[in-house]
Amino acid sequence: MAAFRKQIAQPVEWLDNKLRILDQSKLPREQSFVDLVNYQDIASAITEMKVRGAPAIGIVAAYGIALGAQGIETSSKDEFLVRLNQVMQTFAATRPTAVNLFHTIDRMKKAVVGDSVPELKRALVDEAKQIHEEEIEATRRLSQLGAELIQDGFTILTHCNAGPLATAGYGTALGAIQAAKEQGKRINVFATETRPLLQGARLTAWELKQAGIPVTLITDSMAGYFMNQGKINCVIVGADRIAANGDVANKIGTYTLAVLAKENSIPFYVAAPTSTIDLSLASGDKIPIEERNPEEVTRIQGVPIAPEGIEVANPAFDVTRHDYVSAIITEKGVIREPYVEGLKRIVS
Ligand code: MRU
Repeated sequence: MAAFRKQIAQPVEWLDNKLRILDQSKLPREQSFVDLVNYQDIASAITEMKVRGAPAIGIVAAYGIALGAQGIETSSKDEFLVRLNQVMQTFAATRPTAVNLFHTIDRMKKAVVGDSVPELKRALVDEAKQIHEEEIEATRRLSQLGAELIQDGFTILTHCNAGPLATAGYGTALGAIQAAKEQGKRINVFATETRPLLQGARLTAWELKQAGIPVTLITDSMAGYFMNQGKINCVIVGADRIAANGDVANKIGTYTLAVLAKENSIPFYVAAPTSTIDLSLASGDKIPIEERNPEEVTRIQGVPIAPEGIEVANPAFDVTRHDYVSAIITEKGVIREPYVEGLKRIVS
């Protein structure tokens, strides 16, 4: 797995007084890195999806908060804490669905321990690095566990992008696929293009191609056709938030795939680190769903494809009920029904 991380460009890199990110909105046309030197630009990079994917959002927000803290010029601890809270609020307002962001903010709040402002600033940088390290290790571990569910010769369908770009680690769904390949299994992947922002076509296809894993790109509407033909052995997707009962919020279209998988007796797996689990929500109905700019639907890469002024809906995520999920793959184990007990056991 380590060689895999070296093979690909690092999507997130902390360089002491700045954060370097790979601008995912330009991939695969252009591989360009952006150096972000203030927290407002880091928050904008999340909103504009230069960096995206639940675990990566959590990591980048941690570095953003640490960088925001560096910029607070005061020796008063009280004033520092008030201004730090404003920085955290800016990040909390970036994207609502991925719970990793809110877990990061909670952790950063708890990490503000020390007598002097310089000490607090150091503690925040240390915590951000720690969060990143833990997420890398979590995705490495869950990839190994996920690989056990993949048999030699499998064709796996995946949706959106749940690879190294989305996690700043090894990936979740794609991590499991990569680990299976490293075990010597022959694997094929079907990647859905994932309208409206095409994370499947632009990012998943790009990552798999670099990893040398055979990938076939399909439009979202082709999934049922291939499942019905018996071409798909399992579906593996990532997640943005998993409720206490195992309901899963993930990229819009995931629910459709889960229903199709059940209808065609195909296992439907969700791979996610425990930082994506939200035990505070009893079920998926309470997960906030991000509604994004209508232009993402009416345009493709800036080119208009619909009549001017047309009514548009653009929910970025949907919720898949737990009874459609065959297993949730985490770094602490592969959890199956009853999810309430299993998830509670691993999130302590
Ligand atoms: O809107 P995005 O691109 O941030 O959505 C990403 C997804 O839905 C991913 O599938 C999810 O975050 C899992 S990433 C390991």
